[in-house]
Amino acid sequence: MKKRIAVLPGDGVGKEVARGAIEVLQAVGERFGHQFYFSYGRIGGVSIDQDGTPLPDETIELCKDSDAVLLGAVGGPKWDSLPGHLRPEKGLLKIRKELNLYANLRPTSYYPSLADSSPLRKEIIEGVDILMVRELCGGLYFGKPSERRQQGDKETVVDTLYYEKTEMERVIRLAFELAEKRSKKVTSVDKANVLESSRMWRETAEEVAKDFPEVALEHMLVDNAAMQMIKNPRQFDVVVTENMFGDILSDEASVLTGSLGMLPSASISTDGPYLYEPIHGSAPDIEGKNIANPIAMILSAAMMLRISFGLEQEAEAVENAVKEVLEGGGRTSDIAAKGKKNVSTTEMVEEIKATILDNEAILNIMGAYA
Ligand code: IPM
Ligand code: MN
Repeated sequence: MKKRIAVLPGDGVGKEVARGAIEVLQAVGERFGHQFYFSYGRIGGVSIDQDGTPLPDETIELCKDSDAVLLGAVGGPKWDSLPGHLRPEKGLLKIRKELNLYANLRPTSYYPSLADSSPLRKEIIEGVDILMVRELCGGLYFGKPSERRQQGDKETVVDTLYYEKTEMERVIRLAFELAEKRSKKVTSVDKANVLESSRMWRETAEEVAKDFPEVALEHMLVDNAAMQMIKNPRQFDVVVTENMFGDILSDEASVLTGSLGMLPSASISTDGPYLYEPIHGSAPDIEGKNIANPIAMILSAAMMLRISFGLEQEAEAVENAVKEVLEGGGRTSDIAAKGKKNVSTTEMVEEIKATILDNEAILNIMGAYA
């Protein structure tokens, strides 16, 4: 199989983890006989510096011409004081909108070997397997107006929570379709006791549910959901929610199973290309130190193999390699295990590649770190 992949490494550790994912994909290509062609585009802070905008048209074109997009992370202190429209994050929001990526899938599942890295007790997190489906193109992130105002001597500000019902419907429908293939339960999260938008969300969920008689629908208020996620995370399977709630809850869900550095995501549109990115940010504090955990990015590449290219066996090879390396004690500092020496980003990548290629020589070298 031949595929064109646009790579947007972005800022901070984005560059380091994107390089890792590319190497892993090359190993997959080698083992399974596929050709992946990588082209690079700028986004975020690097692009503000070089192009004067967080997302140049050139990058948008590159993405639209590709079969899938891999994105590292954007942002950093260097650009924090720029006005809102010029921040690196604007580049990310713009690419989501340009590619019409309306649903962001964020799976969290329990890794027995990482039980000690979770802030929660093993009894609570054992068996957790949650698929967060976050609306990605609407809500507070994109509503207009969004601005500061001066009314006489009064300073005010407005952000707008705007949704079209069809935008709610398509993402909720996708959540139900995914739930049909999992444990047939959808938890729809909202704030219907306060927000009108949430009341429409809830109604829409009820309407969509009629088309999926086998799937159970439950509604949960977002504040309660945040609590339940910690108290009894196993009760969740597919969780669907609007953009801002999904942003917050998915960070919370990610630490259940160990680290933000482990969680991949896939952003889906109606016609593709889809975009794959780790849910973590650019982590400027550890940039360039070769200690970032590349697993979230590597698992995002696995999601790409499965969802965009239909390469199930290849995706599993990557996921199993990650599991095996973790079980063998390969740990970056964010998931450090007692009595084990931490591995660097590049060492972690080498171990995963070697496991995919089943390359004894490299594995033996890496064994020295276990
Ligand atoms: C995420 C990030 C982004 C978001 C930021 C960087 C704009 O936190 O992908 O979750 O809020 O969507
Ligand atoms: Mn976030």
